[in-house]
Amino acid sequence: MNALIDVVVERLTRMLIPRPITMRATEGDFELDGTTGICASAELAGVSAWLQGALRPATGLSMGESSHGSIRLSMEPALGAEAFQLAVTPDGIRIEGGDAAGLFYGCQALLQLLPPAVFRRSKVSGVRWVVPAVKIQDAPRFAWRGTMLDVARHFMPKHDVLRFIDLMAMHRLNVLHLHLTEDQGWRIEILRYPRLTEVGAWRRESQVGAEADARGDGRPHGGYYAQDDIREIVAYAAERFITVVPEIESPGHVQAALAAYPELGVTGEQLEVWTRWGINPNVLNVEESTVDFFTNVLDEVMELFPSPYIGVGGDECPKDQWRADPRTQQRMAELGVQDEEALQSWFIRRLDDHLTAAGRRLFGWDEILEGGLASGATVASWRGMTGAITAARRGHDVVACPDDGAYLDYRQSDSADEPIPVGIVLTVADVYGFEPIPAELTKDEARHVLGGQANIWTEHMDSPRMVDFFAFPRLCALAETLWSTKERAYDDFAGRLDEHLARLDALGVEYRRPFGPLPWQKRPGIAGRPSTPDQRAAHIAQMVANIGG
Ligand code: ACM
Repeated sequence: MNALIDVVVERLTRMLIPRPITMRATEGDFELDGTTGICASAELAGVSAWLQGALRPATGLSMGESSHGSIRLSMEPALGAEAFQLAVTPDGIRIEGGDAAGLFYGCQALLQLLPPAVFRRSKVSGVRWVVPAVKIQDAPRFAWRGTMLDVARHFMPKHDVLRFIDLMAMHRLNVLHLHLTEDQGWRIEILRYPRLTEVGAWRRESQVGAEADARGDGRPHGGYYAQDDIREIVAYAAERFITVVPEIESPGHVQAALAAYPELGVTGEQLEVWTRWGINPNVLNVEESTVDFFTNVLDEVMELFPSPYIGVGGDECPKDQWRADPRTQQRMAELGVQDEEALQSWFIRRLDDHLTAAGRRLFGWDEILEGGLASGATVASWRGMTGAITAARRGHDVVACPDDGAYLDYRQSDSADEPIPVGIVLTVADVYGFEPIPAELTKDEARHVLGGQANIWTEHMDSPRMVDFFAFPRLCALAETLWSTKERAYDDFAGRLDEHLARLDALGVEYRRPFGPLPWQKRPGIAGRPSTPDQRAAHIAQMVANIGG
């Protein structure tokens, strides 16, 4: 029995997240040593250099480029976009990618085949860098595997954004939707309008907690990305096959912009950058000059972000100021716009026209469906999946991110100890159970569902540490949902997650322990998990059988 446990426990280290389509164990293993090199053609130099950089620190091996290297990287276009094949034999490792992205994902899989210590950043002694002989074939289910990061409510310093990109890449996520502007802060330098960051990037204090009467913390908060920072983020992400989709919110969620340029508002009042959370009544006016301001901002944004998709927000725009304002009512009459809902559509359509003329596609929250859109517009369905169904039926592409499946600011258990619990309970299992394609859609309509994304709103995450706590390991679950086939089981994932957490530990990710009490409580055994060696061995053997392919 002991030998069997050794074998299966040993195999635990080969439990990948996301789960591959097929993974077959073969005879023997391959050990990295001082003679191991990487062999790749010149066109694959980027991925090869990345792999070398990933393997070097913990192994202490140089992993140099070698024309007879024992890790061979190559392209096999017949595999298809983002797909890869990975074969480990006692003679060496071969990774073939359908394209460079697929090759990169094969390299990510290789890292997970090594002991978790490979993710540490300095030389780890006493570990044999053994890769089990295995054959893996894999390809993603969805093309849009995203995460929306709200860097506006709380600014995330560039260094931490780059780290977050690495964590996304490890999970084969490929879209970073950066929510750059809000009532509480404007986070991207716009050369034409410097006050957006001089004034709009800074607030006096922040509300503590979710209650309407919550106090302020009395501490200024702010920060922004200079255009060179943005270029660096975009390029760093691209090297990891991640597209950064920028979002500039309008016509609501704009108080930081109004604090900088009051003439953009309906009242013209001098406001401060908002210090509270929630929905704000202060919205843009609908003058031509305001449309021009935003299209000028979008021009600079398009210069910086090569993404085909450009986000314009569009959610939660209160209409009270428009209703009460004689000038807005006059403008509506001039434009022949019937009501304030139609006025919001008119505004979004103006941005849509501008982006479409520049060869880009507008990306917005599901409220943008309310008044008709250009056919290229893509909808992020967040109020459940209704927006996804409506959009797909109207022929729009859809990114599924329903709040009841993909909102990682929601509480992770019903414990009173969860920090600032907002929304409903969304456990790791709940997120794992999220299905991006609504059952209501026909096969043809379902083709419009590009994939899905997690949304990480940061009102109550005032540091990258808190983002870690809310994002992980639920983001691991979502990554598997978006990558792996629909035929998956949570129990199988949960077993693999155990090993995966050791990788996150090595990386210094401050995740919430997914089972049992919160980390600052006493750490008992993990509730509900296999605990005796026999149970554990049987559990793992079952997982190995499941994944056999
Ligand atoms: C949203 O959560 N307001 C898109």
